[in-house]
Amino acid sequence: MARVLVTRRIPENGIALLKDAALEVDVWEQDRVMPRKELLKRAKGAEAVLSLLTDKVDAEFLDAAGPQLKIVANYAVGYDNLDVAELARRGVKAANTPDSLTASVAEHTFALMMAAAKRIAEADRFVRAGKYVGWDPMLLHGLQLEGKTLGVLGLGRIGMQVAHKAVNGMGMKVLYHDIRRNEAFEREEGAAYATVEDLLRQSDVVSLHVPLLPATRHLIDAEKIGMMKRTAILVNTARGPVIDEKALVAALRERRIAYAALDVYEDEPRLAQGLADLDNVVLTPHTASATVEARSTMARLAAQAIIDVLSGKEPSNLIKA
Ligand code: GLV
Ligand code: GLV
Repeated sequence: MARVLVTRRIPENGIALLKDAALEVDVWEQDRVMPRKELLKRAKGAEAVLSLLTDKVDAEFLDAAGPQLKIVANYAVGYDNLDVAELARRGVKAANTPDSLTASVAEHTFALMMAAAKRIAEADRFVRAGKYVGWDPMLLHGLQLEGKTLGVLGLGRIGMQVAHKAVNGMGMKVLYHDIRRNEAFEREEGAAYATVEDLLRQSDVVSLHVPLLPATRHLIDAEKIGMMKRTAILVNTARGPVIDEKALVAALRERRIAYAALDVYEDEPRLAQGLADLDNVVLTPHTASATVEARSTMARLAAQAIIDVLSGKEPSNLIKA
């Protein structure tokens, strides 16, 4: 029986699929990130690994696993934790879970955008602290989003859906930047293409939807933050290292931009020094895809990719190197 290593507890439907396919399923029993040593030990001899974005799959990992390994299925859309070139070189297939979380992450992007614009987390802390002593015409003014400009950086599936909802649901204008221009999308949604610099200068809300690549690491640094409006909100549901988090903390502290709403962090789960002390941030713990719907679809897609590859079929969600 082929053994599948699942590096942490995931929704049961994925495990059930693997078991129904008569695979031996080895699930890391502790509910925390598998320590590296344990990961390397448990990977040894596995024919498939269901990995998480917190597991680094590199040459060392592949050496430890051994030549029988056929597929690594990443329980995520982002796969910056996989050394895709090394996997390809060794003929190990890699899969991710595209589309499973587009709606959930787009919704979470709006939850964060709204929480920042309406100062929801601050307001909640204010009320709980017993500070609400009566209606006040000057209390907690935020930003109205209707008629404002949203800048979408990265027009993949998630970026497109965020743009669509912003135009159609919120009455916002949309600027976008991507390495590829999408003129059909511009016509359909009334979105306009802009350079990164113009997008940053003109947007009231900037939302990041790029994958983490060498070219997108610190895409938003002190200089780029300096181009943004002083009233702007920066939202990140993509990957933490896309922002220079230290520079962001400094900018927020000096009110060079108004607000940040973050689901991901440069060195998560650690936060840049001072970030959590700021009032003008709202923070969630990488939970943008944490809906019942998205997470069970992710479990199914990752499990099915493993089953397909081990039975000689080509899953549709293979990552191309
Ligand atoms: C989550 O961050 C993912 O990439 O799926
Ligand atoms: C993920 O689904 C993306 O392409 O943005």
